[in-house]
Amino acid sequence: MGKDLEINEEIEKYIQELSKTLHPVQSEIISYNKTLGDIMRMQISVSQCVLLEFITKVSKAKKILEIGTFTGLSTLSMSLGMSEEGLIITVDKNKETNIKAKNFFKKAKQNKKIQTIVKPALETLEELKSKNSIFDIAFIDADKDNYKNYYENIVSMVRVGGLIIVDNVLWHGEVADSNNNKKFTKIIREFNNYVKNDNRTEQIIIPLGDGLMICRKL
Ligand SMILES: C[S@@+](CC[C@H](N)C(=O)[O-])C[C@H]1O[C@@H](n2cnc3c(N)ncnc32)[C@H](O)[C@@H]1O
Repeated sequence: MGKDLEINEEIEKYIQELSKTLHPVQSEIISYNKTLGDIMRMQISVSQCVLLEFITKVSKAKKILEIGTFTGLSTLSMSLGMSEEGLIITVDKNKETNIKAKNFFKKAKQNKKIQTIVKPALETLEELKSKNSIFDIAFIDADKDNYKNYYENIVSMVRVGGLIIVDNVLWHGEVADSNNNKKFTKIIREFNNYVKNDNRTEQIIIPLGDGLMICRKL
């Protein structure tokens, strides 16, 4: 049986060197996040930036919903893969990081395609559902305790054939260790099992960043 290659730092560096070069504002966000200390861990990885832009482009997505803007790296990555008529609605409860993100979107000349909402995500999801909003892609990257709630709300708002992409599903690899029953490891493991048994979508998990789940709505 074929075996997946074990990716070490050298191979990761090689892949990055041969992948699409980041937009200068994506690099600027990464540099800015480094000044924030430990919370820079919140941003998606470079390989995930490249993949999100690529998926947005090939799927020709016109409407995207994002839960978890932070300083805007993932939003900008998807926006760069979208045509000028596209719209991303991105939600985060943090006012300060939202101001930063909006400045970066403007600097990258992507602001016309991006609507930010500063509110707890579940409130926004209720509002979007009441307006019968439909999305081509939804990206979930916020508080892990609500992953199942976000998925449940979003699954009815994604068109058939559309994608729900979820970050951190490998939780530093801890989900695979059945002896590890820490709170968030368990939450993510339960979420992954829940989606695996959901016949409204089909899913794959890609070991990029902290693990990316891509669900296709059936
Ligand atoms: C992991 S970060 C998102 C990283 C971002 N996707 C990026 O690539 O830079 C998670 C974000 O979710 C936000 N968040 C946490 N709980 C939330 C909630 N209940 N409603 C809305 N946003 C929330 C946090 O403020 C934080 O900015």
